[in-house]
Amino acid sequence: MPSHPLYLTTAIEAVVLAGDLQMERFGGAFQIDKKGAIDLVTEVDVAVERRFRALIAERFPDHQILAEELGGAAAAPAGPCWIFDPIDGTSNFAHGLPIFCASLALEIDGVAEVAAVYDPTRKELFTAERGSGAFLNGRPLHVSSADRLIDAMLLTGFPYDVHSRVDEIVGQFAAFIATARAVRRLGSAALDLCYVAAGRVDGFWETDLKAWDIAGGALIVAEAGGRVTGTGGEPFTSRGGHLLATNGYLHDAMLTVIRDHRANRARKVTE
Ligand code: IPD
Ligand code: CA
Ligand code: CA
Repeated sequence: MPSHPLYLTTAIEAVVLAGDLQMERFGGAFQIDKKGAIDLVTEVDVAVERRFRALIAERFPDHQILAEELGGAAAAPAGPCWIFDPIDGTSNFAHGLPIFCASLALEIDGVAEVAAVYDPTRKELFTAERGSGAFLNGRPLHVSSADRLIDAMLLTGFPYDVHSRVDEIVGQFAAFIATARAVRRLGSAALDLCYVAAGRVDGFWETDLKAWDIAGGALIVAEAGGRVTGTGGEPFTSRGGHLLATNGYLHDAMLTVIRDHRANRARKVTE
């Protein structure tokens, strides 16, 4: 059953509003703080999130919110919960690199019902409702048909603790470089997922992600006909912290690359 029509309308309104606020400030001067050695937060992230919270509080005062900068329920709560990333791609945004978006999902009892991701630099709005397909600016989306890794373009991202895990992260990157046509790293997990949904790329994997990075994009991939699981093949949850999203045809091959890389690392540690 489709969710309440106001949910999707609100999701679209929220991410487009976020995109407008992002573009008002993009390329200008704004305060940048550090949450960790390489994990940035700008005053724009916080301003966008505050505006989003005000919109939801006004329209759905009894709904919960989980968003990156001001927090929220760590575990999926009962009932409706909006999961929002005010800027996905903050490092890009802070450096003036135009690859970022706002990402939103509405989960009800932990199940994603509605998703909207908006890239304001390309004016691309990705949307999905569970059971009703995925769309880019209103046009239906479908994943690609590549069924061999050697014909595949893949995406990944690096977590903010990469400095302490370079060998592991780069080792996995190398394993895909050695098997796929190409691997890219764009800096916005939500857009990475939307690009899988749009068939622009064939697969995306990343570890150490947060619910606000992936809750919206994962629904968009699934509704575009793709497959989303954890990196070990287990069922996807937005709070699981890691995911593999593919066109479906490449899923098992990518799981095998990840599993083999992990097994090789474990063997080297014990040798
Ligand atoms: C980050 C981006 C990046 C991914 C990181 C995320 P942020 O989100 O999605 O692509 O590699 O793991 O944390 O910090 O820009 O919202
Ligand atoms: Ca993010
Ligand atoms: Ca963010």
